[in-house]
Amino acid sequence: MATLSVNVDHVATVRKARASNEPDPVTAALAAELAGADGITVHLREDRRHIQDRDVYLMRNILKTRLNLEMAATKEMLAVALEIKPDMVTLVPEKRQELTTEGGLDVKTQLEPLKKFVASLKDGGIPVNLFIDPLPDAVKASHRIGSDGVEIHTGRYADAAPGGRAEELKRIHDAVMLSKRVGLKTHAGHGLDYHNIGAVAALKEIDEFAIGFSIVARSIYTGMAEAVREMKRLIDGR
Ligand code: PXP
Repeated sequence: MATLSVNVDHVATVRKARASNEPDPVTAALAAELAGADGITVHLREDRRHIQDRDVYLMRNILKTRLNLEMAATKEMLAVALEIKPDMVTLVPEKRQELTTEGGLDVKTQLEPLKKFVASLKDGGIPVNLFIDPLPDAVKASHRIGSDGVEIHTGRYADAAPGGRAEELKRIHDAVMLSKRVGLKTHAGHGLDYHNIGAVAALKEIDEFAIGFSIVARSIYTGMAEAVREMKRLIDGR
């Protein structure tokens, strides 16, 4: 059964809207855990636009599940990760102007620097996933540079018009199968919601989903606990 890591970045987006200390992503993470989330994901961005260092440090100390730190492959973030020691790091591309992470890492053109970066994290005892588009070459390159796993970008599937969904799903399917075949941990995420999760969750080879926006959005109406429980139910196909 695939596990669910709840991304609480957008709780911090609301906090930022009033430059306040509420709502607190740390409290939201605890509520998600209590409702059955298998892990918590946060993206500490270079510009600190939502999640703050304090959030990550507090979560590291009090979460009972697994903390997945999403970050760019920069010197600054390497130092943060080695100090905080999250349960895993997911490396993502980062652009200042983007609303959210737009595409997967271009692993093939950055083989050597990424290989070194992954090795530094692993030397520090931190398992590493690379966030990649659902492309065979990206899976192979991730494997070649020693990554422990990949997170397959599901954004194009989520954004596809109904007529284009099957093709995007096939891309995800093929990338997932290849990833498992070469022995990588295989996660998936981006743009997944209560309506589109079913077809992806039917791919039983996926080990974990990272889902944020749709859960945080629904929690406004139902509370975090119900939002997490409903997503877990859909992932489990119940
Ligand atoms: N996985 C990665 C690597 C991401 O960057 C994000 C967005 O922060 C997510 C998963 C979660 O995406 P969403 O918020 O659309 O569920």
